[in-house]
Amino acid sequence: MRVLTGIQASGKLHIGNYFGAMKPMIKLQEENELFTFIANYHSLTSSTDAALLRDLTLEAAVDYLSLGLDPNKTTFWIQSDVPEVLELYWILSKFTPMGLLERAHSYKDKVAKNIPASHALFSYPVLMAADILLLDTDKVPVGKDQIQHVEITRDIAIKFNNKYGNILTIPEYIVDDNVATIVGLDGEKMSKSYGNTIDIFMDEKALQKQCNKIVTSSTPLGEPLDFENCNVYKIASLFLDDDGKKELQMRYKSGLEGYGSFKKYLKELIWNEFEAAREKREYYQSHIDEVKEILSFGANKARAIAKEKIRTVKDAVGLW
Ligand code: ADP
Ligand code: TRP
Repeated sequence: MRVLTGIQASGKLHIGNYFGAMKPMIKLQEENELFTFIANYHSLTSSTDAALLRDLTLEAAVDYLSLGLDPNKTTFWIQSDVPEVLELYWILSKFTPMGLLERAHSYKDKVAKNIPASHALFSYPVLMAADILLLDTDKVPVGKDQIQHVEITRDIAIKFNNKYGNILTIPEYIVDDNVATIVGLDGEKMSKSYGNTIDIFMDEKALQKQCNKIVTSSTPLGEPLDFENCNVYKIASLFLDDDGKKELQMRYKSGLEGYGSFKKYLKELIWNEFEAAREKREYYQSHIDEVKEILSFGANKARAIAKEKIRTVKDAVGLW
């Protein structure tokens, strides 16, 4: 089965991103033909700085490779290196009723967040449809906020196929309901915009400082602690198997340790979990040409499929 996903490069990654999106996505490469790209044409809709866009794009590539995306299993590239997607985007625009885009809530949400309303922002879902349809995608793993975009893609593809025959593969979305919302320092959803994150790649001291900021109850030292409602426990349990969780629960209940001790333990868990990723990241950061080679290899592979598809589509509509 061909699975495709686009990544918005948005800077420093936090634990919520990792457990909520990256880890489940990277796992898909084990049993599927996974295609993953960094959606820099999409990022352009909200970017204001060329150097920053360029840096974030490469940084996202380095981060994904460091955290386990395997270029031998996954086709990995930068969106703008397969420019056929823009040809398909234009052709699909012709099959996209205005009403379909006017109903898109992500556009309204972004404008509400003061991203300037532009045609690119408005037609964002059509470009996403082109990403998906260009590579004959069967499944698109998405967060809930992106479901509507896959539905729009299906509507456009069905309209196109009704006129020209079964040329485009109608994709389905996959939403992983088991993926929990990861809490941040204050117990709210961990999010960059709330300033309550624990970032994955920090030095050890900064990581401990961040862990120390986690909000806990004021139960005095010496009394048993309630693990169920503890933000430190909630985050730590992401890194533990069942036995590890039970052991930690016992420590909470024993009353022998205070929150400071659990915050130290959490720092150790996080630090150890990402040790291999940190090493890989350092390697890729100092071998950036290797990263560019991986991306260029991926782009060539994706492009070979894209070229064939765009030829069929152009032929069908009379552009070839
Ligand atoms: P942020 O809220 O920090 O800006 P993004 O919106 O860039 O994060 O999220 C990128 C991906 O990470 C999305 O797929 C989103 O669902 C996932 N994600 C972000 N924060 C969390 C969280 N706290 N719990 C679970 N998943 C999350
Ligand atoms: N819009 C997606 C997001 O904001 C990123 C994206 C672009 C995408 N093209 C895609 C996701 C194609 C899946 C398939 O997260």
